[in-house]
Amino acid sequence: MKKPLILVASLMGIAFSAAHAQAAEPLELRKIMNDLGKSMEIVTGGISREDWSLVEKTSHLIAEHPQPPLPEKMRIITFMGTNMSKFKGFDEQTHEAASEMAAAAQEKHGQKVISLFQKLQLSCLGCHQAFRPEFVANFYGNAAK
Ligand code: HEC
Repeated sequence: MKKPLILVASLMGIAFSAAHAQAAEPLELRKIMNDLGKSMEIVTGGISREDWSLVEKTSHLIAEHPQPPLPEKMRIITFMGTNMSKFKGFDEQTHEAASEMAAAAQEKHGQKVISLFQKLQLSCLGCHQAFRPEFVANFYGNAAK
């Protein structure tokens, strides 16, 4: 009767490591977010140097940031449930503020760019404060962050 026990034990091991690997796997969304973070830094540098064409180009990258692949999107929608429209609302604010910032940069209107940059950052912060802790806990487990 030893063999079945070993088999069960090793199957459990496989199941555990599969679940573990899935929990630790970073979402595509995290990569998208990291790129957004980098773009924000580029915009800050561009504002300091009054390099409006750089600010304009980078604002478009923020406004038109990619979406996660469909299966991941489905997981996010399932997790968000009735909060999905609020979550989407923050994303729309990000798109809107970034496109307005691109237009202001095209006009070389520094002050407008800066106030829109603030509006943009508030949209990032709004979503992070409302959703990030539970989001990270759900997709990575509490210990991940
Ligand atoms: C609609 C909601 C939403 C908006 C809007 C949003 N984020 Fe995020 N952001 C998230 C979520 C959810 C996470 C956690 C993702 C994860 O850990 O997989 C996150 C994580 C991040 C991270 C951390 C990534 C890491 O490696 O842990 C950065 C940086 C970031 N966002 C930047 C931004 C910037 C910059 C903006 C605005 C231009 C922005 N985000 C707008 C939802 C949002």
